[in-house]
Amino acid sequence: MRVVEVAENDRELIGKIHENELHSFGTMGGADMWMIMSFIRYGKLYVLLNEEDKLLCVAQYQGVLGKNEAFLYGFSTPLEERGKGYGKILLKESQKELKKNNIKKIYLTVDPKNITAVKMYEKDGYVIIELHKDEYGVRVDRYLMVKEL
Ligand SMILES: CC(C)(COP(=O)(O)OP(=O)(O)OC[C@H]1O[C@@H](n2cnc3c(N)ncnc32)[C@H](O)[C@@H]1OP(=O)(O)O)[C@@H](O)C(=O)NCCC(=O)NCCS
Repeated sequence: MRVVEVAENDRELIGKIHENELHSFGTMGGADMWMIMSFIRYGKLYVLLNEEDKLLCVAQYQGVLGKNEAFLYGFSTPLEERGKGYGKILLKESQKELKKNNIKKIYLTVDPKNITAVKMYEKDGYVIIELHKDEYGVRVDRYLMVKEL
């Protein structure tokens, strides 16, 4: 198992990431190809792969302009790989990489009803700091969570 920072020319891997977005998020909130290429070129996109290069988890980070901070836009594990600890591994390993890039704080937003994700982030050290009501539309609320690295 290994963590890889996705490069702009790794089209096969990018294709797998795009496919996983549709499966993991459907039409709401997943990243399209425009966003994926933007994370790769102007943010950081990390994946956890197994020995056969199967995708085990994806983390998409954006930088916060003028600050040593990042926003975790997307984080997902393919359906058949969930509950095996891959999310915990990629959170930890991607944070180590961000730290090397002098990132000191990470933000994310999560659906308050997404107990699995909220629990995972809390166990990893993220703290809920605000509830953003109607953040992405009427009744589409989000917790804002933050972690200091
Ligand atoms: C949230 C998600 C990324 C977790 O990934 P994962 O690889 O399954 O996570 P892990 O197996 O590493 O588990 C991490 C923690 O999540 C929580 N968790 C995992 N599966 C769970 C379940 N079925 N019920 C409740 N909590 C669960 C636990 O706290 C777990 O820690 P523990 O094993 O120490 O108890 C995955 O469920 C997913 O891709 N969901 C769809 C996309 C999504 O909602 N992303 C988050 C958007 S902000």
